[in-house]
Amino acid sequence: MRTSNPTSTLIATAAFQALQQHHVETKNRQVRDLFTQDPARFTKLSVEAAGLFLDFSKNSVDDKTMQLLCDLARETQVETQRDAMFAGKEINRTEHRAVLHTALRRPRSDQLLLDGKDIIPDIHAVLDRMGVFSERVRSGEWRGYDGREITDIVNIGIGGSYLGPKMTCQALRSFGHSRLVMHFVSNVDGHDLDALLSRIDPATTLFIVASKTFGTSETMTNARSARAWLLRSATEADLHKHFVAVSTQLDLVTEFGIAAENMFPFWDWVGGRYSIWSAIGLALIISIGIDNFKEFLAGAHAMDQHFQQTPLEKNLPVILALIGIWNRNFVESNSISIAPYHQDLRLFPGYLQQLEMESNGKRVKVDGSKVDVATCPIIWGDVGTNGQHAYFQLLHQGTDVMAVDFIAALKPSHQLESHQVLLLANCFAQSEAFMRGKNAEEVRADMQKQGLPNDEIEKLLPHRTFPGNRPSNTILMDALTPNTLGALIALYEHKVFVQGVIWGINSFDQWGVELGKILAKNIAAELTEQAKPAQHDSSTNGLIARAKAAL
Ligand code: F6P
Repeated sequence: MRTSNPTSTLIATAAFQALQQHHVETKNRQVRDLFTQDPARFTKLSVEAAGLFLDFSKNSVDDKTMQLLCDLARETQVETQRDAMFAGKEINRTEHRAVLHTALRRPRSDQLLLDGKDIIPDIHAVLDRMGVFSERVRSGEWRGYDGREITDIVNIGIGGSYLGPKMTCQALRSFGHSRLVMHFVSNVDGHDLDALLSRIDPATTLFIVASKTFGTSETMTNARSARAWLLRSATEADLHKHFVAVSTQLDLVTEFGIAAENMFPFWDWVGGRYSIWSAIGLALIISIGIDNFKEFLAGAHAMDQHFQQTPLEKNLPVILALIGIWNRNFVESNSISIAPYHQDLRLFPGYLQQLEMESNGKRVKVDGSKVDVATCPIIWGDVGTNGQHAYFQLLHQGTDVMAVDFIAALKPSHQLESHQVLLLANCFAQSEAFMRGKNAEEVRADMQKQGLPNDEIEKLLPHRTFPGNRPSNTILMDALTPNTLGALIALYEHKVFVQGVIWGINSFDQWGVELGKILAKNIAAELTEQAKPAQHDSSTNGLIARAKAAL
């Protein structure tokens, strides 16, 4: 996305060279010592905006590191590219598109010209329609074919048309409608849909077919099966009471049998993994209501404004991105474990997996030349306390240095006593342990206090020593609400954007998923004997033959 000198390598930039030199000089320092040397470290290396607080002081950085990283952002034109994105410039160059998910969260009073047309009125017209429709479903006015209220909503979609609606409905379940049960089907494996259909009543079920392209084979296969299932008890004339669509493709939607008035559109300038703010959020709107959804948009908009207006040094998404660059390209950490200390955020790691890895999992730059540094790390994780009892061992004492993002809400949305104190204690203890570690003297002193014999102490010492210096961020919010969730997602979206600009890649295409799709189409035809077996490698031929014999 860099425009001035797209073929220059990142390593050759003055800021990157300065960072390399700085890393050589500082790589052996212990972060625990930095805390001892500077009592103001936490205050200096934390930042707050849009209802979110980010503590990045437990990374191996200091004022100089942060200044050099900000120099890198400036030298790679992060600010210019950010402004180009918000203005609707065609920054997704390989697909010739603007990138305007941020426009979806702008207030009605704003104006944004795209190809000479103000797009804000269209955005709000769809939002208004979704508000009216969702209220009809929520109030019970919208009824199924036998006159009963809708009780079950089934979102059929995959990728961004699944992860966003499902994660957000789960995260905001305490704001959810009490009658409506939300379901999400994505997998073309029939066990997914089959397990659901056996539990729901067609007469009280509303399907949302969510697909930007309305051509994704998993989604369309599930949608066709759901329609056939409904038609076992209903007539074609009843379909409109049970099927609505969210898409950019009106023709394909009507061809499927869903009327135009039951379709909620969005636009090609909304990427799949950035689409929860568009009509793809319909399931969420039905669940939490349009007013809460507007709060969700407002939280994201507040983060957008902070990102646009705040100097890089105090800019939350920029800092999160720069810490990520430092850990990936200098500390050489190849993964980030996302650890939400909030059960309702348990799908957030999976959501970020698509957001970050589909966006920045690239090895060539916008101009087609090779990126000269490592790009997106592996994003993974689970709710923190579960991770502690499973894979945190590796994070503490394994051979690789992996980063962790801790995410917690200070106030819970339940009334159960004592849980929250324990939860937060665990969250803060883990980040402290990752940073401090426990050195040989401390471990020895502990075991001496316990009265262990000296030979036993020396034997156990290496096993009970923690290296520390494991990088982590902690993101806190007062409570998990539509507003703070909106800000949290927007924070990571902009983090991804900033890193994409620094690495010089296009964060908004995803050509890497295409090859498998084409091969699967061919193999599906071969498995059903519509096509002659093609000459694959002997492994693929052998697997096809075994499946054909069994099917
Ligand atoms: O295959 C990847 C992808 O294109 C994602 O980027 C997208 O979110 C998903 O498929 C679903 O696409 P659609 O909404 O068009 O069905």
